[in-house]
Amino acid sequence: MDREGAGTVMELRNAWKTYRMGKEKVHALSDFSLKIHKNDYMTIVGPSGSGKSTLLHMLGLLDVPTRGSLLIGGRDISRMGIDERAIIRGRKIGFVFQVFNLVPSLTAIRNVALPMMIQGVPKQVREERAARILSSLGMGHRLDHLPSELSGGQRQRVAMARALVNDPELILADEPTGNLDSKTGEEVVKLFDKLHKDGRTLVVVTHDPSIARHGERTVWIKDGRIERDTTKDTNKPK
Ligand SMILES: Nc1ncnc2c1ncn2[C@@H]1O[C@H](COP(=O)(O)OP(=O)(O)OP(=O)(O)O)[C@@H](O)[C@H]1O
Ligand SMILES: [Mg+2]
Repeated sequence: MDREGAGTVMELRNAWKTYRMGKEKVHALSDFSLKIHKNDYMTIVGPSGSGKSTLLHMLGLLDVPTRGSLLIGGRDISRMGIDERAIIRGRKIGFVFQVFNLVPSLTAIRNVALPMMIQGVPKQVREERAARILSSLGMGHRLDHLPSELSGGQRQRVAMARALVNDPELILADEPTGNLDSKTGEEVVKLFDKLHKDGRTLVVVTHDPSIARHGERTVWIKDGRIERDTTKDTNKPK
């Protein structure tokens, strides 16, 4: 695979994310460079506060680096307008948040169908697709429940279904099994494996060793910097 050109999904180049807290500056990411290759199955690990969620927000185009660049198809996203960023995000990126962000007034099926509504998919198609993906996550019996009528793990699965329903090329997940029992966690891991086999690119922040084992590439982060970046087959640093 061409790892320099067409094979690169996204690249952070010498990126910084700096928060100002009064007089103090917090560098959540420091001079951070990372290439994500097509069909990578990357897990991100590191201590609390090391910058993992900040990194995922950058990759999900929810935030821009304070300094440095994020390149997609060779173009720097900080040069794109907010609308263009939103279009890329909607079409290409599925984001499973640490907090669920479900719409409280919408049922499970409507929450999942929402991104397709934004993309202009007809109602019947979107409800069928939403029902199918919810069923594949063991939620077929809870389609018409509101988020407040679901357990934490069930809400997580709705959020997961919503992230995947537009069939995104890049899937970003922040602790996707954090609130799940081990059985549901295994279902989620199986789903990730399938998505990877189908050619999707995955970046998963996790403390869960069973997910980390499934990933092919692991990036260790500490204090906003990459400590180690290994791929499974060689287990040698890149
Ligand atoms: N909006 C913000 N304003 C100021 N500082 C922030 C902000 N968001 C994050 N930080 C700081 O940036 C650093 C990285 O935060 P981040 O959320 O990326 O960590 P994390 O690795 O995801 O941690 P965890 O494993 O606990 O979720 C932390 O020190 C945090 O306190
Ligand atoms: Mg986090």
